[in-house]
Amino acid sequence: MSQTNIILTGFMGTGKTTLGRLLAKRIDYKFVDTDALIEAQIGQTIAKLFQTRGEAVFRRLEAKLVEELAQQEGLVIATGGGLVLNPGNVSVLSQTGQIICLTASPEEILVRVSKQQDVRPLLQEKDPQAKIIELLQQRASVYQQFPQLSTSKLIPDELVDKLLELIGDNQV
Ligand code: S3P
Repeated sequence: MSQTNIILTGFMGTGKTTLGRLLAKRIDYKFVDTDALIEAQIGQTIAKLFQTRGEAVFRRLEAKLVEELAQQEGLVIATGGGLVLNPGNVSVLSQTGQIICLTASPEEILVRVSKQQDVRPLLQEKDPQAKIIELLQQRASVYQQFPQLSTSKLIPDELVDKLLELIGDNQV
């Protein structure tokens, strides 16, 4: 059984953490979330980090973490939604496993992120819905390079089935 990594990417609120956890449990892989690892490493929330040291510092920490995770195998990695905007991160991660992009509609994304506790610094705008649409447009070509799975309709366990279909049984 090969133990390459499975990397879930996609915009904020598309279900990377929720599905990543379920998938890891199903296939007996270890689940890691890049935002959570960075927060643990710096002892600060991502929101606070953006505020005090800026987005560029966060992006450098992401890239450093990608290098570290690439040394490991048997991981389901949920990435922060902007991590794959750095082509270097994509190149390193693709060598260690398969990257799948989760998607959801802007409306659904807004509902989900509004319900969550984590503050998304990039969405702290007067009109977060408009910002979501703008960022989705900016990032479309990046996200489209990966196989995609919409998380809008099915329930989580069914989505894990779909993810496994996408990944292909021989990969896990
Ligand atoms: C970001 C997504 C967030 C977090 C940071 C930046 C982005 O992660 O990494 O706020 O650029 O899309 P989630 O996708 O887990 O919300």
